[in-house]
Amino acid sequence: MYDAGKIIAGLVIFVGIVTYPIWGSIGSSVNVPVPVVKTSGTCVESAEYMRANHMQMLNEWRDEVVRDNNRVYVSQQYGKEFEKSLSSAGKASCMSCHSNKAEFCDSCHNYTAVTPYCWECHLEPKEEI
Ligand code: HEC
Ligand code: HEC
Ligand code: HEC
Repeated sequence: MYDAGKIIAGLVIFVGIVTYPIWGSIGSSVNVPVPVVKTSGTCVESAEYMRANHMQMLNEWRDEVVRDNNRVYVSQQYGKEFEKSLSSAGKASCMSCHSNKAEFCDSCHNYTAVTPYCWECHLEPKEEI
């Protein structure tokens, strides 16, 4: 016969260890990175919108540029026009405003373990020192 008591005790310890990262951080401050924004003014859309939707937006921009040569984005929030561009220099692309990629894009992506493969082709901005 199995010893139900030992099995249950073992299970309790096992679950405790496996879920430690969750309950272990309750009450302590979780070390979420704060992306450093160096540009003043606004983004293409509000910061909340960008946080939630920038991946989707970049996909749409790429498709629209590559398939339809449609390169102008009109901000729903601010009514302003933006170049649909990830990294073109000289224009208001994501990376011309967010040229501090390491402190900005990467700080979030490292934390969430996302590695966009875009930089195999698109130029990374030269970091300001
Ligand atoms: C004209 C300059 C400019 C352009 C172009 C721009 N941004 Fe921004 N971005 C900003 C500014 C300024 C803020 C901070 C806005 C705020 O706090 O309201 C910001 C905020 C953000 C945030 C939210 C950061 C946070 O506080 O959590 C994300 C994500 C972001 N931008 C991604 C992008 C991406 C991706 C692109 C290209 C699709 C882009 N931005 C294009 C200037 C720009
Ligand atoms: C506030 C945090 C934050 C900032 C700042 C941020 N990202 Fe992200 N990004 C994320 C998260 C979280 C995901 C993953 C979302 C998902 O998987 O649904 C992501 C995903 C992406 C993806 C899709 C990658 C994939 O493999 O699916 C791209 C492309 C991207 N980000 C580009 C950028 C660029 C370029 C910048 C800087 C201009 C930037 N992000 C800044 C949080 C951020
Ligand atoms: C295999 C190479 C390659 C990879 C990887 C790649 N791209 Fe591109 N991308 C291109 C080329 C080529 C164009 C067309 C450039 C043009 O017509 O201006 C382009 C255009 C774009 C455009 C519109 C034009 C511009 O100036 O930015 C966006 C936005 C874009 N890509 C986003 C992305 C994102 C986001 C990723 C990563 C998730 C990515 N790309 C990965 C090659 C690539």
